[in-house]
Parts: sequence; C-alpha cells; structure tokens
Amino acid sequence: MGARGSVGRCVLEQLLAHGLPVRASARRPEPGRFPDGVEVFAADLTDPASLLPAFEGAGQVFLYASRKGVEGVVRTARAAGVERVVLLSSGSVIHPTSAGNLLTEGHREVEAAFVAAGDPIVVPIRPLVLATNTLAWAYAIRDMGSLPLYQPDALTAPIHERDVAAVACAALTGATTPALSGMLTGPARISQRDQAAAIGRAVGARIPVRALSRDAALERFSWFMPREEAEAVLRYLDDAAAGNSPATSTVQDVLGRPATGFDQWAADHADEFR
Ligand SMILES: NC(=O)c1ccc[n+]([C@@H]2O[C@H](COP(=O)([O-])OP(=O)(O)OC[C@H]3O[C@@H](n4cnc5c(N)ncnc54)[C@H](OP(=O)(O)O)[C@@H]3O)[C@@H](O)[C@H]2O)c1
Repeated sequence: MGARGSVGRCVLEQLLAHGLPVRASARRPEPGRFPDGVEVFAADLTDPASLLPAFEGAGQVFLYASRKGVEGVVRTARAAGVERVVLLSSGSVIHPTSAGNLLTEGHREVEAAFVAAGDPIVVPIRPLVLATNTLAWAYAIRDMGSLPLYQPDALTAPIHERDVAAVACAALTGATTPALSGMLTGPARISQRDQAAAIGRAVGARIPVRALSRDAALERFSWFMPREEAEAVLRYLDDAAAGNSPATSTVQDVLGRPATGFDQWAADHADEFR
C-alpha cells in the first residue's frame, strides 16, 4: 500500500527486481503510473471495505501507518488471511527523548493496535529521520537563493528511502527477527548545514544557510502542516540540537552492508533541487 509514496515506490521496485509477484495500491491509482504486470487496487486505510479486495490472497502486506481507521485495517487484514504486515512506523517509538511527541504517539498507537490483535504478525520498520525531509528545502534552494533553517547545526543521521525499503523487503520476504525493527538511520550524523552543503555539491551551487528563530520556524512549518505537528517537528530538532539523534547500525545488521550516505542521497535527488 502507498506504492506511489517515496518509500512504498522503492518497496515495489525492489520486490519486482527480486522477481516476486506484487500487487500495488494507491487511494486513487492513475492509469500508467505503475510498472507493467503489477495488479493495481484502489485502497484507502481509512475505508476497510476498500482494503478487502487488495488484501485477499496477499500473504504479506506493506503499509503506511494511519491512526485513523487502524482497527478496521487490522480486522480486514485478519479476515483476508494476511499473515504478515510490514508497517512503516517510526524510530521515535523507541527513541527515549521522543516519548510524548505527537508524531511519536500516533505511530505508537498504530503499532499497539496490531500487536494487541496478535494476528496478523506485525513487523514495524522504524526510520528515525528520512532524508526526503530535505525535499521541503527545494523551493528555497531553487527560488530564494538562501536556505532558512531552524537549528542549522542540529546533527541527525538521515536515511535514504531505498534503505528503508530494503529493510521492509527483508521483513516481507525473510524470517521475522527483532533486528528488522531496530531504529533505522543513515550511516553517520551530519548537521542540517552540512546536508545543505551536500545538496549544493550535487546541484553545483553554493547554498547559503541562515538561521531561523523558533517563532519564525513555527510559522513557516505551519504553512504546510497542522500547528501541533509543526511544534512536534521543532521539538524533534531541539532534541537533535541537544545531541539526541543517533546513528545506528540497523541497516548494516539487517542487510549486511552499510547504510547509504547523505552525499549519495543528494546526488540521487539533485534534479529535484534544480
Ligand atoms: N519524515 C520523517 O523523518 C519520518 C520519520 C519516521 C517515520 N516517518 C513516517 O514515514 C512515512 C512517510 O513516508 P514517505 O516519505 O514514503 O511518504 P510519502 O512519500 O508522503 O507517501 C505517503 C504514502 O502514504 C499513502 N497513504 C497516506 N494516507 C493513506 C491512506 N489513508 N490510505 C492508503 N494510503 C495512504 C499515500 O498513498 P496515496 O498514493 O494514496 O496518496 C502515499 O503513497 C509517514 O508515515 C511518516 O510518519 C517519517
């Protein structure tokens, strides 16, 4: 599910590359947006009736977390005989200083709903910081000539969506092990300022960074997310600035190879910043 999402799209590509039979869904699937040979369904996590045709006959399901309607998702997955759900959750669920954060608690509730049901088995996949968050910088980089950042020196270890998808694919196709649900990060911590510099190198431009006050950042983030979510993101950045956003070895532990670095992520996405 969510096969057009940035992680979901990579899950679909990687399962197909392994030659596995895959079906894909979106809430409103448009013709021609999915690879040939993929069976496509319209399915919405908040509408259980729409899920049944997509789930029936599927042994393993990858899906995004939606707090709204999660009981219906669990019930429908069980009724359809799904054996395993690989849930895109969040590393914040197991990150001590993120407890109580609105976004954390939403993911925790979705995980808990599956765990309480017991069937199907749920394997949470828990990225802490997606590198795709920086795509929100594209407008400023392209059109404003400078990048306003809250906590520019905060260190995080952003993870490439392909690595998240690779761990999700391991969870869909292999044995379920606790390592799959470890906190998922990129290979090393890098400040937001240095992430901007890496994007600059990828696009061949210098990207001047200017620091944003908390109030200005709250206002800016509230343009494209509810204010309470914007608060939650700022709290996360404050926590990262206090040194609390780690790099972990989960990708190496699960996949037997290092996680992809931010320079490579920036090179893969350079066109989106031009
Ligand atoms: N940003 C971070 O640093 C971070 C950290 C930890 C966890 N996460 C979690 O990672 C997820 C974001 O991943 P992403 O970047 O791959 O997202 P994305 O590119 O924005 O894609 C989101 C996908 O979710 C699907 N979706 C949303 N609501 C749905 C619903 N009601 N029914 C069915 N499908 C629905 C969308 O499907 P349609 O095609 O139908 O629109 C879309 O494909 C979020 O759950 C977020 O909480 C993010």
